Amino acid sequence: LDNGLMRTPPMGWLAWERFRCDIDCKDDPKNCISEVLFRDMADRLAEDGWRELGYVYINIDDCWASMERDSNGRLQPDPHRFPGGIPKLARYIHDRGLKLGIYGDLGTHTCMGYPGTTLDKIQTDAQTFADWGVDMLKLDGCYSNATYQEQGYPLMSKALNATGRPIAYSCSWPAYQGGLPPKVNYTQLGEICNLWRNYGDIQDSWDSVLNIVDWFSANQDILQPAAGPGRWNDPDMLIIGDFSLSVDQSRSQMALWAIMAAPLFVSNDLRTLNSQARTILQNKAAIAVNQDPLGIQGRRLLREKSGIEVFWRPLSNSASALVFFSRRSDMPYRYTTSLGKLNYTSGSYKVYDVFAEELMPGLSDSTAFTISINPSGVVMWYVLPAVSREQSQGG
Ligand code: DGJ
Repeated sequence: LDNGLMRTPPMGWLAWERFRCDIDCKDDPKNCISEVLFRDMADRLAEDGWRELGYVYINIDDCWASMERDSNGRLQPDPHRFPGGIPKLARYIHDRGLKLGIYGDLGTHTCMGYPGTTLDKIQTDAQTFADWGVDMLKLDGCYSNATYQEQGYPLMSKALNATGRPIAYSCSWPAYQGGLPPKVNYTQLGEICNLWRNYGDIQDSWDSVLNIVDWFSANQDILQPAAGPGRWNDPDMLIIGDFSLSVDQSRSQMALWAIMAAPLFVSNDLRTLNSQARTILQNKAAIAVNQDPLGIQGRRLLREKSGIEVFWRPLSNSASALVFFSRRSDMPYRYTTSLGKLNYTSGSYKVYDVFAEELMPGLSDSTAFTISINPSGVVMWYVLPAVSREQSQGG
């Protein structure tokens, strides 16, 4: 969507995967969906080095609303869990240099049964969010159908634009229509949404990550051209720092989401995050790959019989990123190849190892190299053409 927003994939924090629909503020006050949780996370983004790296969105998901609209038909937050109201929360977040995202659902109810946005309420809700100072809307699609969505998603795009407030628009529409043409029209999505969920929800498990990566790779010929500045495929949240991923698996999710030009919304508890997870999520080179201004989504180049997969993404300034991913479960695998075999043109290259955080010896396209890839882990490279002596000295 050409509304000037999200020229690179959005980054921030999203409540859903980690905190779900915990509304038990009596017995679980620190983890329930309440203004306290969002203020806590805003503090962490602002104070723990996240904001400077680009993680600026604090996004509310389902279960924030009161079960009833107000007397003017407007949505309102649950009065016990958001006693200060959303505008005050928005100010708190803006004061820290961050942005606020909110959640709605096109249909009669949200997935968890809170009031939905029916067609006749689209304008009201768009205006309410704008009045509150909201910066992004995720519009879910429970309790509606294909015809309803075909009308509603474009209408909300128009309604948000008509408010005059820049509000980024995340559409769950394709995820409810199987994610593929002919039911899904990616040209249209790119015109009306800044990002869209293509596929099912991520869960806190490595299987879930693999399932998502497999679907996105299997359908990359359709998905890859749909992405670009202002319009992104969304394979769902990062679960790094939660309960299921090993350190290697965490690096794999980070590397693959960077290659896929995916939105980087972490869904974890930033208050108790361990330093290994934080180091991975704050890896500057991985973020630079994700945030490359060209905005070309990468793709899986190769699937070796050995269980090694190679992913590649072209970057600005003739740079590129490579991810060597192991689907094996035995031991580190020694993989031998050359840049030439990976379609690089002849010449010499500088290679930066993203997670080792070190520059490697230079390589020519024909040099064979061997890298060791851990089980369910990655080796990620940032590759730059080395300026030759002749060129740098002008001939
Ligand atoms: C389904 C969405 O795909 C999830 O990301 C989350 O928003 C839930 N609905 C909330 O009910």
